[in-house]
Amino acid sequence: MAIKLSNRTKLIKPSPTLSLSAKATQMRQAGIDVVNFGVGEPDFNTPEYIKAAAHKAIDANFTRYTANAGIIELREAIAAKLMRDNGLSYSPKDILVSPGAKASILNILIAVCDTDDQVLIPVPYWVTYPYQTLMADAVPVYIQTEVSEGYKIQPQALQEAIDDSPCAKVLILNSPSNPTGAVYSREELETIAEICVKNDILIISDEIYERLVYDDVKHVSIASISQEAKDHTVIVNGVSKAYAMTGWRLGYAAGPSHIINAAGRVQEHTTSCVNSITQKACVTALNDEDDSIENMRKEFWKRRDYMYDMLMKIPNVVCKKPQGAFYIMPDISWYLANNKIGIKTAAHFCDQLLEKYHVAMVDGGSFGVKGTVRFSYANSMENINKGVTRFTEFLKEISS
Ligand SMILES: Cc1ncc(COP(=O)(O)O)c(C=O)c1O
Repeated sequence: MAIKLSNRTKLIKPSPTLSLSAKATQMRQAGIDVVNFGVGEPDFNTPEYIKAAAHKAIDANFTRYTANAGIIELREAIAAKLMRDNGLSYSPKDILVSPGAKASILNILIAVCDTDDQVLIPVPYWVTYPYQTLMADAVPVYIQTEVSEGYKIQPQALQEAIDDSPCAKVLILNSPSNPTGAVYSREELETIAEICVKNDILIISDEIYERLVYDDVKHVSIASISQEAKDHTVIVNGVSKAYAMTGWRLGYAAGPSHIINAAGRVQEHTTSCVNSITQKACVTALNDEDDSIENMRKEFWKRRDYMYDMLMKIPNVVCKKPQGAFYIMPDISWYLANNKIGIKTAAHFCDQLLEKYHVAMVDGGSFGVKGTVRFSYANSMENINKGVTRFTEFLKEISS
């Protein structure tokens, strides 16, 4: 007889982005020309100056376990970055380096949540937040947002969610956002911080897309709003997106000592330290940044404009212009209500689009929003053109 799985794992579904990428790869291997808008990672290679540092670390035999929280020179480099970019002073002892921002968030949730504590999650959300909440034995509480409000939580909705949740303990805030590309302004963050401080809610501020903002938009860390806000915030960030280092696996958390300490103990008995070579490469990535990082941002910016302009030309597609990250999440509800082939959900739409027009994208239901789809523009201009043209043709075909 097969061993019965835990109740916990029964609640956890596979990541839709990873399963979609696997399907698109399978089709490609079968010789099909698939345009994949499902990907959540830069299509650029890791910059040369970072790779050189990794080679050097291997040659110097820097290959053993390191301190669980990360080597001191890396935590110093992160502290310097937090001061340089965010005006925030953290001691290296209040920084925990983990194998990816994903691991950072789970460590923090396990460190602060007791069974049945509630974690406030604005919708749309990154797919991982609810599952990590469940893994920490806590309960997700969703806060709805509207496209007309730029998919950002409104103060009243936040206060109501707190009032209705007697065990509310954490708010997970993600700016710039995956999947919408929304970026919170300083004024908006001030109000959110004030509510969280007043109600003693810990903010996990996922700032992984911090560097990828466009136009004249500035990223603001909610921890920089006030000392009280800083005391109620754990910043989570990493190198995956801005430095094109997704496969190297390094993220970090910075926050109040007792929380970082506890999260470190969790890590000590799970993954332990991050790969030693990655750590050395990241010291160089942060301390010796060259213009390759800014060049990638500028390229994403061009692609965002190009893709957004193409999408805006399609009748009955409603789209909010993203200000950051590398995603666009248009609303295609009109086509779900007005098509002649019986498509009713965005998930079914995505299946058919991949099958018939060989374009892969993730349905918005995975992020908590029905009637929408998520495009990633971490893709070449040529592919953006080809893929959005196919998407447009598919919409025309099903609705005419
Ligand atoms: C919002 C958000 N946070 C965190 C991560 C995870 O980043 P990492 O590669 O550092 O684990 C991602 C990756 O897709 C993300 O979109």
